[in-house]
Amino acid sequence: MSDSSFNSLADIIAHRYGEGVVGNGHSGSDMPIDDPLAQIILRRTHRRYTDQPVSDDLLDVLFAAAFSASAKSDLQQASVVVVKDENKRQAIQELIPSMPWIGNAAVFMIWIGDSRRIRRICEHRGKPFANDHLDAFLNAAVDAALAMQTFTLAAETKGLGVCPVSVVRNHIDAIRDILELPLYTFPVAGLCLGWPSQEGFISMRLPPKVTVHTDRYDDWDLAEEVAGYDKRRDERFSIPSASRRLNDVYGEAEFYGWSEDKARQVSTAERENLGRFVRAQGIRTD
Ligand SMILES: Cc1cc2nc3c(=O)[nH]c(=O)nc-3n(C[C@H](O)[C@H](O)[C@H](O)COP(=O)(O)O)c2cc1C
Repeated sequence: MSDSSFNSLADIIAHRYGEGVVGNGHSGSDMPIDDPLAQIILRRTHRRYTDQPVSDDLLDVLFAAAFSASAKSDLQQASVVVVKDENKRQAIQELIPSMPWIGNAAVFMIWIGDSRRIRRICEHRGKPFANDHLDAFLNAAVDAALAMQTFTLAAETKGLGVCPVSVVRNHIDAIRDILELPLYTFPVAGLCLGWPSQEGFISMRLPPKVTVHTDRYDDWDLAEEVAGYDKRRDERFSIPSASRRLNDVYGEAEFYGWSEDKARQVSTAERENLGRFVRAQGIRTD
């Protein structure tokens, strides 16, 4: 479906979730396609960019938007490191050669959960930091994620594209050393930013029946809902044979949909070091 065939938000929602999946297809039918929500629902990750730079002025504005995100208790525990030094960017790219968008994007940055600033402020103000437990980690991680997503949506309103890169956490000690991350800080995700060179595509999402609960958590029909989602998604875009994972371990699946792909993905352990890393950064996880 091309963007010109949308008549209302209901069409846009159908494109994201499949026909009749959200509100039986009616939700959004009275909202025009120039509603600002359309841009959010049609958003997509971009991994290929033109050579056009992003001006420092625009970047300043995008960070101003990003740090306007809500923040737990107004503690403002997000930071970002923009990687401008080409040697540092190349060092990060070399850690993750499978993701050339890290090196090709106009801008590359890493979003940081920052439990350091408030601890330093406590020192300046002569007060104890009495919240030294897992919640300190979670609050900083959430603040960083909210700021990164607000940056993302801001960038997308300007026609820019982004790709988050959590794989930086597969090399977390090296990233800490390259960025000289001090105690009580930790990388949440990298973010590539650039002007998209391709249209990209809309990745279909799980139905609200699975993600939106009323009054109590209820997943009794998960298997059936996921089977329907697998089928809808496969009809839109079938995962190519070359992208199917771990055939050597699990064999060729008769039907290789989203759930088979994701179950295979998480059947391999990764980032088991994260707890050790966070504790080494001085943050308690108990
Ligand atoms: C926290 C986070 C980490 C991600 N890490 C990576 C990554 O390491 N490499 C990558 O290519 N995409 C990464 N992505 C992008 C996701 O793969 C993408 O958002 C997902 O496939 C859905 O596609 P869409 O954003 O186009 O709807 C990440 C996204 C998020 C939110």
